[in-house]
Amino acid sequence: MTTPTIDLTDPELFLGEDAPMIFRQLRESDPVHWHPLPDGGGFWALTRYADIETAYNDHTSLSSEGGPMLGGSFRSAADPSAGRMLVASDLPRQRHIRQQVHRAFSNGMLRRIAHQVTTLVDTAVRRAVADGGCDFATDIATELPAGAIMTMMGVSHTDAHELIGMTRRMIGFRDPVFVDPGEDERIGLAVVQAEIFEFFAELLSDRRKNPKDDLVSMLLQARRNGRPWPEEDILFNCLNVAVGGNETSSYTACAGILALHQNPAQKALLQADPELTDSAVNEMLRWSSTNAYVMRQAVREFTIDGRLIQDGDTVTLWNASGNFDETRFPDPDTFDITRTPNRHLSFGVGIHRCIGAMLAQVELGILVRHMTDRRIFFTVSGPVRACGRTSSGAPPAFPSP
Ligand code: HEM
Repeated sequence: MTTPTIDLTDPELFLGEDAPMIFRQLRESDPVHWHPLPDGGGFWALTRYADIETAYNDHTSLSSEGGPMLGGSFRSAADPSAGRMLVASDLPRQRHIRQQVHRAFSNGMLRRIAHQVTTLVDTAVRRAVADGGCDFATDIATELPAGAIMTMMGVSHTDAHELIGMTRRMIGFRDPVFVDPGEDERIGLAVVQAEIFEFFAELLSDRRKNPKDDLVSMLLQARRNGRPWPEEDILFNCLNVAVGGNETSSYTACAGILALHQNPAQKALLQADPELTDSAVNEMLRWSSTNAYVMRQAVREFTIDGRLIQDGDTVTLWNASGNFDETRFPDPDTFDITRTPNRHLSFGVGIHRCIGAMLAQVELGILVRHMTDRRIFFTVSGPVRACGRTSSGAPPAFPSP
C-alpha cells in the first residue's frame, strides 16, 4: 500500500493542482488516513463518502465541542464556545440552540433576504457593466452575504460590509493576505474577535431597548430553563451565523462563476436553459466544496473502515474528497450542471447540517438567475488570485469559528 506524502494542513496544497490526486490516492489506498503533525500528535482524515457520511451521523462517538477547525479558532486551546455556540455543541444542548437560531431562518426572513440580495446584485452588476468590468470576488460576490447580514442583523449596507471585512480577517488569520508578516497570528485573531464581539455587543445593547425582527432580538427572547441566555452565548451564536454565512456563499459564487467560465459548453447549456439554475447551483456547491473539511473529537473508542479510533482522537471529515468519490459521483472530475442525483456533502450531514443551506441556495440562485435573465455572463479578464486557504475554499472560508 503506497501512501503519498501529504500535508493536509498546508494551505498551499489547495492552491495547487495536487489535492484531487492526493485525495483519490487516499480514497483508494488509505481511506482512513492517520495524518501526523510535527508536534508528535496527529489526526485522522476520512476521505471516502460513505465513511464521512457515517461519521457525520455518529453523534455518540464523535463530538463537535472542539469546534469545527483543526488547531481551534480561539486564542486558547480549550474552546470557550464549547456547548454554547451552535456549531461547537453536542446533543441535547445543540438541539435547543439550533431551535432558537433557526427562528432567524424562517421563510419570511428568507423572502426579505432574497429581496435585499436581488437589489444589491442588480446594482453591483449594473455598475460592473457600466465600468466595463469589476473584481467579481469583492464587488459582486460579497453582496450575497451583505444582503443576508443587512436583513438578519438589521444593519446598514456599510455595517454589513464592515462585518464581512472582520469575519474575513478572522477566518484568514493565518493568511499573509490579511496579516502582516511577523505579527503573532493568535494575537491578530484575538484582536479581530474582540472587534466582532464589540460589533454585536453594540447591537445587543440597542436591541434591548429597540427590539426588531432580527437575529439579536430573537436571541434576546431565548430562554433556557426559564432564564434568558447569557449575553456571551448570544454573541457566540451571532458570530457563528456571521462567520458561517459571510465567506461561504461568496466563495462558492466565485468558484462557480469561474467553473462556468472554464467550461464554456456548460455555460452555453445554462444560457440556453435557465431552468437548470437549481441544479447548476448544486453542482457549484459540490465543485467548490467550500468547507473542505469539518473536525470532530472521538469521545469513545470505535472502528471505521477497519481502523481503530481511540477516545480523544481528532477526526477530520473531508467533504472536498467525498464530493469527488467516484463510487458516488460518476465522472466526478467533470463539472456537470445537469448532474442528478447530486447528494454532495458541502453542507454537511445530520444534526449540524448547515442551518443556512437554504439561504445559501437562494443567494446563489439569485446571482445565477440574474445572469441568465439579463444574459450577462462573466469572462475572466486577468489572473485569478486565490487567497491562501485556512480550512477550506481558496478565499479563506469556513462556516463557523
Ligand atoms: C455555500 C454556502 C455554505 C456552505 C458550503 C456551508 C457549509 C456548512 C457546513 C459543512 C456545516 C456543518 C459544520 C459541522 O458539521 O461541523 C455548516 C454549519 C453551519 N452553517 Fe453553513 N454553509 C454555508 C452557508 C451558510 C450560511 C449562509 C449561513 C448563515 C447565514 C451558515 C451558517 C451555519 C451555521 C450557524 C452552522 C452550524 C449549524 C449547526 O451546528 O447546527 N452557513 N455550514
